[in-house]
This record gives sequence, structure tokens and C-alpha cells, in this order.
Amino acid sequence: MYKQIGILTGGGDAPGLNAVIRAVVRTAIGEYGMKCVGIEDSFEGILGETHTMKLTKNAVSGILPRGGTILGTRNKGSFVKMVNGKPQVADLPIGEALANLDILGIEALITIGGEGTLAIAEQFHKRGFPVIGVPKTIDNDLAATELTFGFMTAIDVATEALDRLHTTAASHDRVMILEVMGRNTGWIALHAGLAGSADIILIPEIPFSFESVARKVLEREKSGSRFCNIVVAEGAKEIGKAEIYSDTQELRLGGMGDHVRKVVERMTGKESRCTVLGHLQRGGSPNAFDRVLGTNFGACAVRALARGETGRMVALQGATITTVPLSEACANIKTVSPDGQLVQTARDIGISFAAPQEMAH
Ligand code: F6P
Repeated sequence: MYKQIGILTGGGDAPGLNAVIRAVVRTAIGEYGMKCVGIEDSFEGILGETHTMKLTKNAVSGILPRGGTILGTRNKGSFVKMVNGKPQVADLPIGEALANLDILGIEALITIGGEGTLAIAEQFHKRGFPVIGVPKTIDNDLAATELTFGFMTAIDVATEALDRLHTTAASHDRVMILEVMGRNTGWIALHAGLAGSADIILIPEIPFSFESVARKVLEREKSGSRFCNIVVAEGAKEIGKAEIYSDTQELRLGGMGDHVRKVVERMTGKESRCTVLGHLQRGGSPNAFDRVLGTNFGACAVRALARGETGRMVALQGATITTVPLSEACANIKTVSPDGQLVQTARDIGISFAAPQEMAH
């Protein structure tokens, strides 16, 4: 059994990170008598002058409902280099990090993060250091797990935003556009669009045509519904065109919502407004579902380490948490199937994805 384990959070924050940290600490100390060290600011905390914190049961008391991460996080840090516009794990710092882990007396790691963090964690495993990953992203785009914590809270926030936009859209007879996160996948847009009764949902998996968007807006107008709510995933694409970036150097998506606003206003003559939900989707308290999922992931990650597993990630499959190889966890992203049940349901109830062949309801 390990005497002391380390825990870190990497990548963009997500509601539920503190629930995982709390569960790891309580399980490690309470069930297995291990000590816990929190590594600050992702892997950066074990480089150079290390910065860590002792995690006792008292240290994690009261953090369950808190947003963000008490350990701090970094998006790329020293381990990721951009090569030809693509992030890649750099080799050099791993040796230094392993030496520091040795000095700190940390014998195994639990790393909580998305694709990037899990890819770095796999490199530690390949060098023989025991590691278990915990999947995190509000985008819910990791193929190896059915759900990631933070996603349900993000949908709640986006749904509330849509509810609020609805009343102002109806009062002014306007087209209201809500741009949500999700990078290359439309999970947040699809779920929030359904829960918040959007009229049009634009997602990366179904390239859209502006003719089709305008047709739906005008159809609604003709039928007496003089307003329209559109949810746009930040990575949505017009047919034959690329995504829109707010920062091409850092490959940061953003701006599609406002582009849709301008074109729709021009094509339909309807006054339009765009709201970018941004980091409101990531901040704040996790909902009950994400607290439970995060807690279950955290406890299961410690149990996996205690069983001697390494190089694996905890994953939700069916109603059970299992573990999958980290290599598998990083291999594929999970995208919305354009022929899937949820897209069909949305179409059945009259929501348009603005695909060119779509007939307005
Ligand atoms: O991975 C989650 C995510 O929320 C993406 O949907 C979004 O593009 C990205 O993070 C933005 O992160 P940041 O502003 O931290 O670079």
C-alpha cells in the first residue's frame, strides 16, 4: 500500500473538481491510512521550486459545494508545446517532475483533467510511475466515459440563460442567439437547447446553412411566433467553412454567435442579439448530480490505486464506475451522432439544426 499519494487538477476548471478532491482525501486517509499531498497549479507544482499542500480531512472540509479547484489549475503549462498548431506533450519536464515526486515522498498520483492532462498522466505511467486519471470536462467529449462531472451543471447554467433569453426575445420579437462552449462537440448546445426550448441548435457535427436558419426564423414569423431562440456551439460550422476563432494563435474558439447574429439580421430583417455565455458555464457551485459523480469518481480512483491499478482512468459506463486504459481514454473524442436519438427527438419536436435538406416544421 502507498504511504503517500499526490493529487492534482489540470486543464480548464469544471464544477465538481473539489468534490473529487474531497472524496480522494477522505477515502485515502479514512479507508487506507494513506497521506495525501495536493499538487498546486496542475503539473507546474512539481516543477522547479515545488508548491504543494498537505491535504488532511480538515483541509477539505466544506469544499464540496465550492466551484473551481482548491489546488489551482493551468491549461497548458510547461508540459504542452504547440507543434504545427497542435498541442503535444513535451518530454523534458517529466524527468524533473519524477525527481521532485521522489523528494516529496509521493508514491502515486491521481490526476484530474481532460484530454491534455490525461495524456501527460500517461507519460508518467509509461515511465513506471503509478497513476490513475479522473476525467473532467464540461464538454462531455471523452469517449471512454458516458459522462464527465461539470457537464450537467453547465447544462443547467445554459438552460437558465435560455429561459431568461426567451422572455426578452418574446417581449421584443427578436432573434436571440446564445453561444455556448463545447469546442468540437455540440453536447452542451444540444442538451441545453432541448431543455431550454430553443428553436434552432447549431452544432459542429451538423454543418449548417444560413438559408436554412433564415427559413426557420421566417417560418416562425409567418406562423405568429415572432421571436426565435438559437443556441450556437462555439465550434459550429457553416457548410464548407471553418470554425471561427477569437485567437488563432492559441486556437481559442469564439465569435460564431455574433457572426450568426449579423447574417441572420441581414437575411431576415429581424432585430437580433447575441449573448456569449463563456466561463459562466464553468464557474460556481456544482449541481447535485456533479457532486455525486465527482465523489464517486474520487473514491473509485483511490480504490483503483489501492488495488494496484495504474495507467488507467475511472469511467462511468452504464450505472457503474469502471476503469479503462489511459491510452484508450485519450484516443477518441465523443461527438454527437447526427443520426442519434436525441437529434431525432429534437427534430421531431420542431427544433431545426439548419442542415440544408431540413424542411421547416
Ligand atoms: O474544455 C472546456 C472548455 O470549456 C471549452 O469548451 C472551451 O473552448 C475552453 O474550455 C475554453 O477554455 P479557456 O478559456 O480556459 O482557454
